[in-house]
Amino acid sequence: MSRNDSITSPPPLIEHVSDTARWVAFHRALESERPDALFRDLFARRLAGERGQRIAEGMPALPGTYPGPRGVTWFFSVRTKVFDELILDSIQSVDADAVLNLAAGLDARPYRLQLPSSLVWIEADRAEILDAKTEVLAGAKPACRVERIGVDLADARARQHLFDQVGSAHERVVVVTEGLLVYLAEASVGSLANELSTRVSMRRWVLESVVPEVLKRNMRAWGSVLAQGHAEWKFASPNGFEFFRPHGWSPKVERSFFAEARRFPAVSTATNGGGSSVSANAQNLLKAVAAEIGLGRAIKLLHGERGWVHLIMRN
Ligand SMILES: C[S@@+](CC[C@H](N)C(=O)[O-])C[C@H]1O[C@@H](n2cnc3c(N)ncnc32)[C@H](O)[C@@H]1O
Repeated sequence: MSRNDSITSPPPLIEHVSDTARWVAFHRALESERPDALFRDLFARRLAGERGQRIAEGMPALPGTYPGPRGVTWFFSVRTKVFDELILDSIQSVDADAVLNLAAGLDARPYRLQLPSSLVWIEADRAEILDAKTEVLAGAKPACRVERIGVDLADARARQHLFDQVGSAHERVVVVTEGLLVYLAEASVGSLANELSTRVSMRRWVLESVVPEVLKRNMRAWGSVLAQGHAEWKFASPNGFEFFRPHGWSPKVERSFFAEARRFPAVSTATNGGGSSVSANAQNLLKAVAAEIGLGRAIKLLHGERGWVHLIMRN
């Protein structure tokens, strides 16, 4: 036996795109455990499991953030909070009978949000991650009915089938894609947008759009880890929401990343570098981005000249 045969390399941090759900869930656990948490997801730590913790602890730091997982928790926390608000607003404004969470991963909103008991919350994602979730949540009581559907959202026929099924069973559906679109090819995002807009019951869509500058910057830090699980980010929209307009969608609400981060100035995020607020973390990131591309462009980028989280409605 050669010397190399006896040395086993550790498994990759990300083995499959579904592992990104474990990564995000671990950040929700860190947020939930803070005394002044923006939300409390009581299941997040168990859902993330040891793998989620290992991924979050092993991910290289993004330039401009504190090292260690807490250095980016604030970002995921703000995103979760903004999605919470826009989802609840949308359910109310269209009197939704269903939510279709595409790439729901380990999100546990039906177990922590106040939702109408008549609502049906449909979670679509890879079967593997949904099975793991069902096991952890067995016995927990959601606020409404929850259905889980294993599907490959990059497969056009599988998507059509899912959208037909949901579109015919429900009349007023709020669609959610939180952290999905980046993992799809641009053509798939365009087709997905078309397919949703041609189904009349899909009334609102809450989505996040990433601009190419942010995609490239994040991939410089995280790309090689994500590539091990074929989970590199692919889709970014140079003009933010404008990508979706020709596919049948109009903006209703637009939130910018920086403005949202600054809404929570008092929230302390104990980082490895010491206590620091969400807005201080955001300022820190702004400085780092400004050093790379200049202050004027950094402000435009992070202030969301081209938007960040959008609530959109059918044309
Ligand atoms: C970063 S996680 C976000 C999960 C969840 N929305 C959240 O915010 O916690 C990305 C999710 O996209 C799912 N995903 C990526 N590509 C997919 C595909 N082709 N089909 C189904 N799910 C996919 C992964 O399985 C994973 O759960």
